[in-house]
Amino acid sequence: MQVIDGAITPGTLVAFLLYSQFISQSVSALAGSYTSVKQAQGASERVFELLDKPKEYLGSEKGESIHDFESLEFKNVSFRHNESQEVFSNISFKIFKGEKVALIGPSGSGKTTLIRLMQGLFSPNEGDVVINGKTAESFNDCARRALFATVPQNVSLFRASIIDNLRLENEKLTDDEIIDACKLSNCHEFIRSLENGYQTIVGENGDTLSGGQKQRLAIARALLRGAPVIVLDEATSNLDNDNALRITELIESLPADKTVVIISHTCKSVDACDRSINISDLKGYQPEPYNSEKLPMLA
Ligand SMILES: Nc1ncnc2c1ncn2[C@@H]1O[C@H](COP(=O)(O)OP(=O)(O)O)[C@@H](O)[C@H]1O
Ligand SMILES: [Mg+2]
Repeated sequence: MQVIDGAITPGTLVAFLLYSQFISQSVSALAGSYTSVKQAQGASERVFELLDKPKEYLGSEKGESIHDFESLEFKNVSFRHNESQEVFSNISFKIFKGEKVALIGPSGSGKTTLIRLMQGLFSPNEGDVVINGKTAESFNDCARRALFATVPQNVSLFRASIIDNLRLENEKLTDDEIIDACKLSNCHEFIRSLENGYQTIVGENGDTLSGGQKQRLAIARALLRGAPVIVLDEATSNLDNDNALRITELIESLPADKTVVIISHTCKSVDACDRSINISDLKGYQPEPYNSEKLPMLA
């Protein structure tokens, strides 16, 4: 109207429209920047929170190191989580170097707790965990934990190549060492059948792989750890019969001096073990000297 009336020239109107567009663009960009600043602020707060956390307690460095694993014994161990009911009351058993032992008990009976007691992640309320004939406290915590390589119930894998996921154990591992462990744990064939082989990137938590494949990778990782005792905590529960059979073969193909503890809530896939210990029978169980010939199953 004002142009028609001659109050402003068409040029002024064009200039006005252009300038107002510049201003509105800048204002909306400012709003966008504000959102980004707020997001960055939130993220950096979380990063600083993490940086401020005290360093994880990695255990005492005092005490002896363990040169060679010989035996592990629970002597009259009782344990309860906090104020809760006792998980174990006065249990005793002994595992010798090179034994392949199945530890069987129903869900909630304390199998995982027992492994944590072995590793020193929990301490008994009464009784002793004894390693190589000495109470476990005489050894340093790092040496004690290094005795065990555990294949957990839930395998954690990262969004990275298969070979990098396996090399996490030790960055100095050569490709050949990794491939050998994969052959032993029956991963090699399925890895080679993937388009990019060992360089295949697995999804977050390895969700591009099947449960059985993840489980076998976790076993390869445990082997690469080079620990004298391998613990499979329900690691065979996600496996079908065919894969469980391969685990049996794997146990049989492991070096004779590797000690293996297989935890299971069923008797499935424990055929390869020298003997089985039933958690419910543990009370009053007296350890006997290890006989390398296969012992009858207790369960
Ligand atoms: N960190 C914990 N704090 C308190 N109670 C726990 C903890 N872990 C396990 N428990 C309890 O201890 C018992 C044994 O659990 P767990 O060792 O996981 O059994 P399993 O491995 O045989 O299924 C269960 O009653 C469980 O609820
Ligand atoms: Mg468990």
